[in-house]
Amino acid sequence: MDLFSDERDRAKQRIAGLSKEIEEHNYRYYQLAEPVISDFEFDQLLEELLRLEKQFPEFLDANSPSQRVGGGITKEFESIKHRYPMLSLGNTYSKEELEEFDQRVRKGLGVETVNYVCELKYDGVAIGIRYSNGELVQAVTRGDGVQGDDVTTNIRTIRSIPLKLNANNIPNDFEIRGEVLMSRITFNKINADKEKAGEALLANPRNSAAGTLKMQDSKVVASRKLDCYLYGVLGNSLPFTTHMESLEAARSWGFRVPELTRLAHGLQEVFDFIEHWQIARKSLDFDIDGVVVKVNSYEQQNALGFTAKAPRWAIAYKYKAEQVVTKLLSITYQVGRTGAITPVANLEPVQLAGTTVKRASLHNADIIAKLDVREGDTVYVEKGGEIIPKIVGVDISKRNIDSTPHQYIANCPECGTALVRGEGEALHYCPNEDGCPPQIKGKLEHFVSRRAMNIDSLGEETIGLLFDKGLVLQIRDLYELHKHRDKLLMIDRMAEKSVNNLLDGIELSKQVPFERVLFAFGIRHVGETTAKKLAHHFQSMSNLFNAGEGELADVPEVGAVIAHSVAEWISNPQHKELIHYLTESGLQMQLSEEALSLRSDTLAGKTFVISGVFSRSRDEIKNLIEQNGGKNVGSISGKTSYLVAGDNMGPEKRTKAEKLGIPIITENDLMNMINL
Ligand code: IVH
Repeated sequence: MDLFSDERDRAKQRIAGLSKEIEEHNYRYYQLAEPVISDFEFDQLLEELLRLEKQFPEFLDANSPSQRVGGGITKEFESIKHRYPMLSLGNTYSKEELEEFDQRVRKGLGVETVNYVCELKYDGVAIGIRYSNGELVQAVTRGDGVQGDDVTTNIRTIRSIPLKLNANNIPNDFEIRGEVLMSRITFNKINADKEKAGEALLANPRNSAAGTLKMQDSKVVASRKLDCYLYGVLGNSLPFTTHMESLEAARSWGFRVPELTRLAHGLQEVFDFIEHWQIARKSLDFDIDGVVVKVNSYEQQNALGFTAKAPRWAIAYKYKAEQVVTKLLSITYQVGRTGAITPVANLEPVQLAGTTVKRASLHNADIIAKLDVREGDTVYVEKGGEIIPKIVGVDISKRNIDSTPHQYIANCPECGTALVRGEGEALHYCPNEDGCPPQIKGKLEHFVSRRAMNIDSLGEETIGLLFDKGLVLQIRDLYELHKHRDKLLMIDRMAEKSVNNLLDGIELSKQVPFERVLFAFGIRHVGETTAKKLAHHFQSMSNLFNAGEGELADVPEVGAVIAHSVAEWISNPQHKELIHYLTESGLQMQLSEEALSLRSDTLAGKTFVISGVFSRSRDEIKNLIEQNGGKNVGSISGKTSYLVAGDNMGPEKRTKAEKLGIPIITENDLMNMINL
C-alpha cells in the first residue's frame, strides 16, 4: 500500500472516531448536563475534525458533528410535502371546555376514566425531523400543515438534536415532532447586544426562534443557540402501545423530551397539572403558552381519530395573558425609519409577569379612539407574546372629571411636517422622506447595507454619529467625506484605521453594479428583484429617467403600483440632481459591458421551474435564465415550459411534470440552450 492511501485510510478512521467521540460529549453536555471534558478539550477535538474534513472532503458526512458550527448557506428553503400532515390542536381557555372534552372522549370510547398525558405547550416553532437508518435526513417546518420549508442545514446546528442515533431499538424510518425554542437567557442576551448596537430589538423568544430558523447563514443560526423539545413520534407500525412509552423511548434515543411530562389518571389530575404550571411556568427558562392534554393509549387515539383540522384525542389548554392596573402618565410619539408614527403610552411603573413595565404600545389612532384612552386614566395593561405590553382597557370609574379625549398629533414630532394617512391605512406617516432625521438615517442605512452598496465599515451607529455631527445629512455627502478627513478624525472612537476603512469602503462602493445601486435608493416598492428587472430592462439610469409611467408599467412583472412609485421618484428634481452628482462621482449608472454582452432573448416567452442541487448556485442559474429573457417560477403548472432538474429533486415535482407532459431538462441542457 502506498503512503498516500495509507494516510487517507488513517484520516478516514480518525474522522469516524472523532465524530463519535464528539457526539458523545455533546450528548453528555446537552442532554445529561454531565460533561466529562473541559470546553477547551472539546474545542480541540472539534478543531481536529474540522481540519481533517477540510483536508479530506471526501470523508465529510452530512451528519458530522462539525455541521453543528454551521457554514452551509440555504439560499432558498425548498418546500416539502409532509408525510403526515402537521395538524393543529383544539384550543380552550376554560376548565368547562376541558370537562366537555373529557366527556366527549369518554363517551366516544365508552369508558369511565381515561389516562391522559399532560405536557407543556412549548411556545416556539413546530418542526418535523425525519430519521432513516438512525440518521437525521430532513427537517421541515410546519408551513401550512400540508407542506413546509426544508430547514435541515439549520436544524443540524442545534446541539441537543442528535444527528446519529445510538441505540438498538430504533425504527428504520420515523419522524419526530417537536418545537424549536430559544431560551429566555439567550433571548435576553441577544437583545442586550442589539440594544448596545442601537439595533431594533426582537419581540419575544418565539419570534426570535422563528426568525433564526429561516436565516440563510447556518453559522449565525449556530451562534443563536436554539434548542428543541420533542413531543411526538410518527411512523409505520411503531413498537409502542401508548404515547408515554413513545416519549420515554425517544428520550432514551437521545432526544430532549422534557421530564416535566406527567401521566394523569382522569381529569382531576389534569387540572392539578394545569394549576401547578400556571404559577411554576415563571421559573422555567423557556416560554410556554399552555398545557397539551393527550389520550395516552394509541388504541384509544385511533378509535377517536381526527376532525379535518385536529386530533379528537388531544386539546390545548391556554393560559390567559396576565393583566395589571396602572396609571397612564402621558402619550408620546415615535417616528420610525419609514416615517411611520407609533403612539407610546408612558406608564407609572408596575410589575407584570416578572418585569417592570413603564411603557406600552398604543398601536395607532384608531385604537386610541376605540379605547377612548386619555392621559391620566387608570388603565389595564396586558402582556401577551410581545415584549412591549399593551393597554387593553380603561377603568372609567377612576377617570378625572375634567379629562378630555386624547388629540392625536397632526405634525411630525421630529421635523414638524404635517402627517398624512393613506386611505384604509392604520398608521399616520410623516411624508418628509428626505428631511426628517429618523427617515434620513433609515435611508442611509439601507443605502450602505450589504445587499445594496455594501459599505460594511458604516453601521447604524456610525451613521448616527456622522449625522449628528452634520457630516452626512444625505446620500451624496458620503462621497464628499474624503474631503473631511480632519473632521472625521476628531470624532470620538474614530481612529486613523477606522477612518481609512470607512473611506476605502465608500470608494469601493463605486464598483457596485448598477442593479444594486438602483436598489440602494430605497424607492418604495422597489426591492432587490424589481431593481434587477428594471436595471436589465432599461440598461442605464438615463434610459430609466426617460421612461414614462406607461412604459414602466409595461416592463414584465412591474405593475401599476411599482410604476407609479418609480415615476414619482424620478420626477423629483432633487433625485435627478442626486443621480447627476453620483454619476460624476463614478458610481455605476449603467449595466456593465459584461452584463450587456451576456444578455440574449434566446429564452424569451419561456418559463422555468428549477429544483434540486446544481453545480452552479440556484441564484446563478436563475440569473442566467433571466439574462436570456426567460422567466423563473416557483411551482409547476400547465404553463411551465421546462423543469430544470438537479440532484436530489423532490419526487413530487418529477411526477407532476411528467403528468403535465412538461419536458424535464438538466443543467447541461439549459446551458446548451443559451450556448454556454
Ligand atoms: S401535539 C396532532 N404537543 O402547538 C397533535 N403540540 O396547536 C399536534 N406544541 O404548532 C401537536 N407544545 O408545535 C403538541 N407538547 C406539545 C406541544 C405542541 C407545543 C405546538 C405544536 C403546534 C401547536 C398545535
